[in-house]
Amino acid sequence: MEIIIAFVISYLIGSISFSYIITKKIKKVDIRQHGSGNAGATNTLRVLGVGPAVSVLLLDAAKGILAVLVTLWVLGPGWAPALAGLAAILGHNWPIYYGFRGGKGVATTIGVMASIVFIPALIGGVIAIISIALTRFVSLGSLLFMVATTIATILLANFYQYPMAYFYLSLIVTILSFWRHRQNVVRLIQGTENKLGKKATT
Ligand code: G3P
Repeated sequence: MEIIIAFVISYLIGSISFSYIITKKIKKVDIRQHGSGNAGATNTLRVLGVGPAVSVLLLDAAKGILAVLVTLWVLGPGWAPALAGLAAILGHNWPIYYGFRGGKGVATTIGVMASIVFIPALIGGVIAIISIALTRFVSLGSLLFMVATTIATILLANFYQYPMAYFYLSLIVTILSFWRHRQNVVRLIQGTENKLGKKATT
């Protein structure tokens, strides 16, 4: 029962879309109608610039951190924080307050994974930053973060005594992220993916 309550509350927290709120407040537009159409930090960068984008990145990550850490504190390690983190990501991607049209869950997943498996997420983060610096494709860096964090979680599972739930969580969020980035993957293959720094024209 406690896990269900944690799941629902985390989903409701994850459903708060900071890119939607901030873009609406500053530019009076729906971010989902501009740039890539994604309600996330990368698209906020295109539509509003660096300051608002960094705020969205931090606030969206904070949703994941809050959901996991509160659940971890109340219910302890294992399935409860893993499911709470997953719920926050699901809320971000399919938010109840905005017609279930949200983002791709990258910032929230970073917050969740950093709270659950810090060292693997740090390794994933370094690989993602290097990849984005070299290619300027945020989508590629985001997907590499997911894959690298999952591999590092598996490799370090014994050393850190991670519960199996953390392995399943990293696998599920990686699959989820590839699904949400499926159009980005097609554009990456076709060579038409947006590069970091390109402003939104619509
Ligand atoms: O944060 C999501 C990022 O990986 C890609 O975003 O707007 O380029 O589809 P976008």
